[in-house]
Amino acid sequence: MKIGIDKIGFYVPRYYLDMTSLAKERNQDVNKYKIGIGQHKMSVISPAEDIVTMALEAANSILTKEDKAAIDTILFATETAIDYSKAAGNYVHRMLGLQHNIRILELKQACYAATGSLQLALDYVRMQPDKKVLVLSSDVAWYGFNTPGEATQGAGAIAMLVSANPRLAQVHKGTFTTEELPDFYRPSYQEIPTVDGHLSIRCYNDMLKRVDPHTNFLYTCFHMPFANMAVKANKVYSHPISDEKIEVVKAFTQEVGNIYNGSLFLSLISVLSLAKENLENETIGMFSYGSGAIGEFFSLTIQEGYEKVFNKDAMLKHLDDRDEINFETYQSYMSFYKEKEVTHQFIESDFTPHAQNNFVLEQMIQGHRIYKKVSK
Ligand code: CAA
Repeated sequence: MKIGIDKIGFYVPRYYLDMTSLAKERNQDVNKYKIGIGQHKMSVISPAEDIVTMALEAANSILTKEDKAAIDTILFATETAIDYSKAAGNYVHRMLGLQHNIRILELKQACYAATGSLQLALDYVRMQPDKKVLVLSSDVAWYGFNTPGEATQGAGAIAMLVSANPRLAQVHKGTFTTEELPDFYRPSYQEIPTVDGHLSIRCYNDMLKRVDPHTNFLYTCFHMPFANMAVKANKVYSHPISDEKIEVVKAFTQEVGNIYNGSLFLSLISVLSLAKENLENETIGMFSYGSGAIGEFFSLTIQEGYEKVFNKDAMLKHLDDRDEINFETYQSYMSFYKEKEVTHQFIESDFTPHAQNNFVLEQMIQGHRIYKKVSK
């Protein structure tokens, strides 16, 4: 029986900072960001958004009434949790109006948890083929002002509906490797991660070599903490894809930045949206890396007729429809984000949410979040 991703959707905030603006303020050559690191834009989370609203937008973009009725489990992968106890998926459950007999779990293993969740969901559905699992990833990559990581920030969410007889992609089991490493971590008392970016690149490549399947794929997608990580990974990979294909693999990340758990799947969406080839029956390689650290290589086979459940025009439109903000607005939004997640104070009426957003954070009362679905 085939098990895999029936549908996939993504959401990135409606605002972005062009890397030219950041380079100017940080006194850096813009080519370091655009050519050296490979980032053109950074998506910036606005005040009435958080990991829940982003996950809601991504889920809402793919789920029908029938899908919602069939969901039995929600796995929410994040490394930017808003609560040490309550799973963010509880809020998603309420706002999507899902049935009550559902299990909800939040999973953490740096940027790997979404891949781990997907693989767990496959086994779950294999045992109970009539069930569907909603796998969500949502993160805000925030390294702090004036840090080396600042140029690699971003925010966004991915939603995947996992089922038997998937219409988008059959997902195959992966090969994984784990080792405790100090490349990136954020203890519970820290607002931003401690990261040794150069060490992390070495750990990433080392893990890729360990799980390299030594197989030729039409495309291989990579987890990308910054777009040019795909270029670096492709160099150590036994069956590198062409430079032209790497451009396709990293195109969406260049426009968005790091979205942590969702990054690998954003790369898949980039390929599904921009590949010139017919991808039906093609198998795509997927390398997932989570600092701390774990690496997994798996593959997925694109199903015949997948374009019926994957609207590439809608994906491209979502990226194109965003609004550029200036450096001052970036500074104020991220200062606000930092403040909000520490003080737990927020009233949405102080802000005007973006007109295209369907879900907004309305209020925080003693840390409890109240969301609103915007009527259109
Ligand atoms: N023109 C063109 N290229 C230039 C340039 C210029 N003017 N100036 C510099 N460059 C090039 C450099 O030569 C370099 O290229 P190579 O990598 O090919 O050598 C590149 O630009 C970057 O320059 P530096 O290495 O000097 O930049 P840096 O020291 O500021 O660090 C970084 C870059 C390591 C990516 C840093 O931004 C960083 O640490 N980012 C965070 C990355 C990260 O998050 N890593 C860990 C997470 S991994 C993950 O996401 C998984 C998880 O589980 C969290």
